[in-house]
Amino acid sequence: MTQFNDSFVRCINDPLFLDQFYEVFLASSDEIRAMFKDTDMGTQKAMLMTSLVYMSDAHKDTPGLLASIAEKHDKDHLNIKPYFYALWLDSLIAAAKSIDPLFDVKTEMLWKETLQQGIDFMISKYEPCLDDA
Ligand code: HEM
Repeated sequence: MTQFNDSFVRCINDPLFLDQFYEVFLASSDEIRAMFKDTDMGTQKAMLMTSLVYMSDAHKDTPGLLASIAEKHDKDHLNIKPYFYALWLDSLIAAAKSIDPLFDVKTEMLWKETLQQGIDFMISKYEPCLDDA
């Protein structure tokens, strides 16, 4: 996983990475843009940065911080429908591609594999009632 981690670190150390991500992500859907219309994007970027670090280690810490983020995004709270996560991942990869000069097909596969684990976890918590049953 060194190849993923090296790429990930190059991205998160570049202050333009999350600017680039939100630019692509917000442009990908009117519905998404509307959800963030009153959001302080500076705070949002800082929070996303923390959660990305947890997601990059998702296998180690999935139940920790991600559980509370997943609850916040579930049907009873922000109601982030599962299909939005594909746009989220595509936008993040587009940003990584533009920031990391060493990004290649293999790196892209590793980004997808790693982050998909965190996304699967978030989506598995979307319907809180199913969990409680
Ligand atoms: C795995 C993917 C995602 C992660 C790790 C993530 C992470 C976060 C975090 C850490 C927060 C701040 C939570 C807090 O206030 O305590 C947040 C808020 C939010 N997220 Fe996500 N998110 C993800 C995917 C998405 C997607 C796909 C959407 C929508 C399409 C979305 C929409 C929002 C909105 C609308 C907020 C609230 C913004 C506000 O406070 O105004 N998120 N997210």
